[in-house]
Amino acid sequence: MAPPSVLRRLTLLMAICCGRAAAQEVEHDAGCIHMPIIHSTNVGHFSEKRGVQLQLANRSDVAYYAQLSIGTPPQAVYVQLDTGSFELWVNPDCTKVSGGDAVFCERAGKYDSSKSSTVESLGTTKTLRYGIGAANISYVTDTISLMGSTTSLKTVQFGVASSSEDTFSGILGIGYGMGKTTRYLNFVDQLAAQNATRVKAYTLSLGTKDAQEGVIVFGGVDTSKFSGSLTKLPVIPAENSPDKVPRFWVDMESISISPPGAPNRVYENSKIPVFLDSGSTMTLLPPNLTNAIALDFGVTNPDSNGFFRLDCALTQVNGTVDFRFNGLTVKVPYKELIREVPGVTPACFLGITPSTTFTLLGDTFLRSAYVVFDLENHSIFMTQAANCGSTPAALNRASDLNTISGLCGATVSAVAGGSAPIPGFGSSAGRSGAGTAGNSALSGGSSFSRSWTGLIWSLGIMAAMTIWI
Ligand SMILES: *[C@@H]1O[C@H](CO)[C@@H](O)[C@H](O)[C@H]1NC(C)=O
Ligand SMILES: *[C@@H]1O[C@H](CO)[C@@H](O)[C@H](O)[C@H]1NC(C)=O
Ligand SMILES: *[C@@H]1O[C@H](CO)[C@@H](O)[C@H](O)[C@H]1NC(C)=O
Ligand SMILES: *[C@@H]1O[C@H](CO)[C@@H](O)[C@H](O)[C@H]1NC(C)=O
Ligand SMILES: *[C@@H]1O[C@H](CO)[C@@H](O)[C@H](O)[C@H]1NC(C)=O
Ligand SMILES: *[C@@H]1O[C@H](CO)[C@@H](O)[C@H](O)[C@H]1NC(C)=O
Repeated sequence: MAPPSVLRRLTLLMAICCGRAAAQEVEHDAGCIHMPIIHSTNVGHFSEKRGVQLQLANRSDVAYYAQLSIGTPPQAVYVQLDTGSFELWVNPDCTKVSGGDAVFCERAGKYDSSKSSTVESLGTTKTLRYGIGAANISYVTDTISLMGSTTSLKTVQFGVASSSEDTFSGILGIGYGMGKTTRYLNFVDQLAAQNATRVKAYTLSLGTKDAQEGVIVFGGVDTSKFSGSLTKLPVIPAENSPDKVPRFWVDMESISISPPGAPNRVYENSKIPVFLDSGSTMTLLPPNLTNAIALDFGVTNPDSNGFFRLDCALTQVNGTVDFRFNGLTVKVPYKELIREVPGVTPACFLGITPSTTFTLLGDTFLRSAYVVFDLENHSIFMTQAANCGSTPAALNRASDLNTISGLCGATVSAVAGGSAPIPGFGSSAGRSGAGTAGNSALSGGSSFSRSWTGLIWSLGIMAAMTIWI
């Protein structure tokens, strides 16, 4: 169970959420569900002892979690929020992962179906495969309620793992479900089907590294997490998408870099389709493009895992890498783009890795964006993330997204602490030209690494699409 302070805060948030319920207890039909997204670095949630905290801190910026209460009476389980997959499952085999991952895995909680009076076994099984990791699951249905909400969903189908490899938490796949990737209503489908939400859409605002907490609003938006209006991007239909899988594919117009005190420069070959994947720690881009960006951060060669190690001082530099979509520019501060692995000697890596298989924008991008996933009208509504409080509200119609406006002032602070740019880095980052770097050392970089560092970033890609249940 979450500590009492967390429960209190959640209750408070729900009172605001979907405002119409105001001071009273939130009604079943309030129309949206507002849940905190917990960063794995948030030691208050995942650990009690100091020794454990240190180990978990190694997980760095790794993943984003939501808490579900499954069964009757409810059992609390943290699951990774993954826009890149489609199904919910719990109970990874924690003995199959090591070190900090195992500790983390235990902390995330387990669901014991034998202790639930509402569970039904469906007698069907499936193997789920991700970019890294896999799980053998048996399907059950049970009641699932959401922390801080009086809404509980009845008879929700999900998987209970009988065995798994290279996974350290259950996964809440919030991609397309029924009729597209599954033959049953997935979690997001059920929210709409059971009238917990009026619109099959949700908002993801992961929050900055420093905030350590974001928000997901199922069926609604949080107007205190952005300013101005949202830009609509059509989701590319599966049949026209690069991998023919119904994911949140959108057309990216360009990537450019804005080093401090230097003009913005656009990268060649950066007009490509990408999909939005909260289950991936890293952003994956074609090798040529990744090389060109890495070069601007002063790195020419990736390490053996395909990661570009760079100077941690760059996290303090006031520059941004800018992602453009249909006229919208999302500016990602260097600090948010860089993966920082704490330790005696902290290590820092460019948050983009080369891939010849996938082009996706993972957490290193999503932390800086405010994104609404509209699964009803197959659209993404996006803008720059901001944070000026908490004002969740239910959507009555998907079309409201066209007119909604954020409450925050329009500023992007590239340097979280407001510290001054480090002159040396500004100029070195700005020196090399954009374009292809043609580095042959990258050839091994696109395959999925099985090392600890490789393990952390690839959960979100759901590989198996062939078996429908
Ligand atoms: C799934 O089960 C099969 C058969 O028992 C086993 O060989 C395989 O290793 C299991 N996969 C995972 C990911 O646990
Ligand atoms: C949800 O609302 C619709 C329309 O008001 C209604 O027909 C349906 O029975 C409701 N479903 C549930 C599970 O309450
Ligand atoms: C976590 O970091 C500490 C300090 O750098 C290191 O000794 C330890 O091996 C790391 N744990 C894991 C699981 O990587
Ligand atoms: C979304 O789809 C619904 C029907 O599915 C339609 O009535 C509505 O006009 C659409 N909204 C937008 C903004 O396209
Ligand atoms: C960072 O750069 C932006 C844009 O050039 C500028 O407006 C801002 O004042 C800078 N911030 C700091 C802390 O230097
Ligand atoms: C990548 O770079 C190589 C050599 O620099 C070039 O031959 C190739 O066409 C480039 N590929 C793309 C997709 O730009």
